[in-house]
Amino acid sequence: MYPSHAASERNKTRRRLPVLRFDKIEKMVMSEMHKIYSEKAIEHSMHPRNVGRIKEATGIARITGPCGDTMGISLKIGKGEILEAKFWTDGCCASISCGSVTTELIKSRHIFEVQKIDSKRILETLNGLPESDVHCSVLASNTLDAAIKDYMRWKNE
Ligand code: FES
Repeated sequence: MYPSHAASERNKTRRRLPVLRFDKIEKMVMSEMHKIYSEKAIEHSMHPRNVGRIKEATGIARITGPCGDTMGISLKIGKGEILEAKFWTDGCCASISCGSVTTELIKSRHIFEVQKIDSKRILETLNGLPESDVHCSVLASNTLDAAIKDYMRWKNE
């Protein structure tokens, strides 16, 4: 086959491939996500609140869950009240939603109230998650718990 003939064959193949437009792909992905996740879980996953790390945190923790994903939570606590909370994760969409909603749940609350926030509460606030993603809420609540314990240790030193 001559080079020019090969190029013409390639062009024919290219023309036959369907063109997938980004907006159509996005629509398909979103429609699949709505079948699995609540509106609130999707919203927190796409627009997570309080992402990052607090430089002068008074309580900090980082935990890697059984799935291999990690979450970090840093807190600024004053007189037992959560003044600022931030999270980060390298995990899935559900872990982003869980981290985001957890930081929202604890803002301006006293640590005694915050200690009562468990994975069940995180799930309820997100209007549920699929069974396969329940462990993501456990990762968030365990990380929060560890950050509070870190603060208690630091305070008692
Ligand atoms: Fe690992 Fe969600 S945190 S799958």
